[in-house]
Amino acid sequence: MLSSLLLAWYDQHKRTLPFRGTRDAYRVWVSEIMLQQTRTETVGAYYERFLQRFPDVFALADAPEQEVLKRWEGLGYYSRARNLHKAAQEIVSRYHGVFPADWSALRALPGVGDYTASAVASIAFDLPCPAMDGNLTRVLSRFHGVREDVGIPSVKRRLAALAQEDMPAVRCGDFNQALMDLGATVCVPGTPDCARCPLSPLCDAYRVGDAEELPIKAAQKPPKEVRLAVALVTCHGRILMRQRQETLLRGLWVYPLIENAAQPDEIEKALKSLGVNAEFRAELGPARHVFTHRVWLMTVFHFEADSAPADGFFSLPEMLSLPMPTAMRAAREHAIRLLTPRIVPADDGNLPQTAQAYAESWQSAHAAHCTKEFLARHTPERMEAVLRQHRNSGRAVYSLQFGDRVEGVMVLDHQENELVSLYIRPEAQRVGMGSAAVAFAVAALDPSRDMQVTCLCGNAAALALYRRFGFDTVASVRVLDAAQNLQEEVLLRKAEKPKPEGNA
Ligand code: ADE
Repeated sequence: MLSSLLLAWYDQHKRTLPFRGTRDAYRVWVSEIMLQQTRTETVGAYYERFLQRFPDVFALADAPEQEVLKRWEGLGYYSRARNLHKAAQEIVSRYHGVFPADWSALRALPGVGDYTASAVASIAFDLPCPAMDGNLTRVLSRFHGVREDVGIPSVKRRLAALAQEDMPAVRCGDFNQALMDLGATVCVPGTPDCARCPLSPLCDAYRVGDAEELPIKAAQKPPKEVRLAVALVTCHGRILMRQRQETLLRGLWVYPLIENAAQPDEIEKALKSLGVNAEFRAELGPARHVFTHRVWLMTVFHFEADSAPADGFFSLPEMLSLPMPTAMRAAREHAIRLLTPRIVPADDGNLPQTAQAYAESWQSAHAAHCTKEFLARHTPERMEAVLRQHRNSGRAVYSLQFGDRVEGVMVLDHQENELVSLYIRPEAQRVGMGSAAVAFAVAALDPSRDMQVTCLCGNAAALALYRRFGFDTVASVRVLDAAQNLQEEVLLRKAEKPKPEGNA
């Protein structure tokens, strides 16, 4: 009786959801795992994207775990993604990629509990298994007038037994989903809309008038508060990250998290014990994340390390490619800002630091071609004078920075339409600063004329960079400087883009 009223209502009022309309067990399983702790509205976009990348159980089983976690980023409860991946491998190795049409076999898969086994069994295989989630528990406790704590195992079993009795012989998946939809849209928590409910004529709580009080649940313990310092430790355009080994968020990448440390010197000490010498730069602000049983109350700090060992530090594109938990969202925004190249006019305020970076990077770039004496003459003071000269002759001088730390210099000559100089400290290379500078130059110079740049011919990385932006080698120049040092350079040119012809 319940089932016929319910299915008639479902046929008219069921929600249109992206994961409906398939009985393919792989797709049903993926959607049900996503829906375990996540709202239906949130799941939609993730579900489509996940299936585009992993269209079947073989694609999922073959993928690296890090990629599965990356595609799960933002959904939370990452053990679901790790279990999904493991279960896919089990279905391939044990069942040749075919999902078993059997509740116990489904229940034995990693990450599949009673609810998910029943949801997949009923929706994909039409097996009579009630999928006891929060919606079914609420609707059925009201309908059958179950007035005991639904968290107690014996009460749970009783509700499941009642659902089993109510289950029709066919359309078992629709029966479960109809109860879910009724619970989500009509028989909602708090004040249900009994006037619109197809079950109210038979509903015990409606008869008694206590639907608003049901289901009965024991009060939940409030989540535990944990105070954490989030240390953004940067070094020349890279940032320190680690992969969590702890059960909570295992496998995901985070910035160093230090418990119960509120003062910069305590955090510096904790970083030292991780083998990182870093200096406090700024407190960036608070952040908060609520897990099921825990709340992280975070304060984000910026530190600068004196050196960045090869592993552990990541450039901005590398950082963005790693799977990170939503708990790091606010900290990540700060990190993005700190790692984004800044190209600002060199003014009197930053000229000394810009000249310092110029001297260091010039010496490093020319070390192989020049005498020691000649290199040593390129002091920060002399480079500052050179930059002033550039400015006085009408060229645009830019300071290249990460945060407020100067890493290089660029000089543009708008009259000649030329990128005159581009120097970046060796430690700050290969992190996107060069690309950002050349992109800036190409946008700033006049596209309707040839653009020109000169580059040391031994500098393969710089040559490749200019070629990526459309520059071609046009000449090789051999320059003898005042100290008789041989400077071989190549001249590159980016051909003019003809102006679109006007009609007038
Ligand atoms: N919540 C979890 N699974 C669902 C489904 N199949 N339909 C609607 N809501 C759900």
